[in-house]
Amino acid sequence: MGIARGRHSKTDKKHVARQEPFPLTHVAIIMDGNRRWADLRGLPRLAGHRQGVKTLKELVKYVGRHGLKYLTVYAFSSENWNRSSEEVDYLIGLFAEVVRDELEELHGSKVRLSFIGDLSTLPANLQQAFRQASQRTRDNQGLSLQVAINYGARSEITEAVRRIAADVKQGRLSESEISAELVGSYLYTKDIPDPDLLIRTGGEMRLSNYLLWQSAYAELYVTPVLWPDFSPAEFERALCEFALRERRFGGD
Ligand code: FPP
Repeated sequence: MGIARGRHSKTDKKHVARQEPFPLTHVAIIMDGNRRWADLRGLPRLAGHRQGVKTLKELVKYVGRHGLKYLTVYAFSSENWNRSSEEVDYLIGLFAEVVRDELEELHGSKVRLSFIGDLSTLPANLQQAFRQASQRTRDNQGLSLQVAINYGARSEITEAVRRIAADVKQGRLSESEISAELVGSYLYTKDIPDPDLLIRTGGEMRLSNYLLWQSAYAELYVTPVLWPDFSPAEFERALCEFALRERRFGGD
């Protein structure tokens, strides 16, 4: 299977041995636990988010180098607006900073970057930075990295239903053409396959309104490891678990 084996002390090394392609195409991640990570160290909570960015950078490099096709990460949910304005402002600033500072390196690594969610309510400069980043990297053939920002699956599905209804009303679509596939084609993720594996760090056993439609058959992997501590070795552990699961897609 080519997945790094052996004692944990070995897989915890910075470079995880991998010779074969990943056994899956699309991994989605709920990056949870940044603030708990900071609390545990007596650091300001915002430091947890900054460390979370480092973790994401390392993981993107790792999976990109090893040929994963799609990675979708939950960076800001539509419910996250309910956090303190200090934290919301910090996160918004952090997204702008990361896109500005990392874009050229991501582009050089052939990463195709896109943003999913209701971007229309974000500050104009951030929307502009996201548009530019998507445009700059849109022809890249390496890892396709989707960052979910101001994302909520129920709103995504509700909006799809509204647009389908409008298309039926205008005569662009007939009722009999409405299928699961068609609904999928109205979602933010219309151009990419569904996730094979959904990882949640931080130990909570919830989907938190993330990719509800797309994850219908995804394998779920929840780890107590807090996001800032989620290393490539931890990612390999999730893949080991995935490889042991028998995927039946509702069949026998
Ligand atoms: C969840 O931890 C994390 C977030 C709400 C923010 C995630 C954002 C990043 C890791 C930065 C990624 C940056 C880019 C550019 C994609 P939490 O705050 O809910 O932590 P807790 O569960 O300990 O409270």
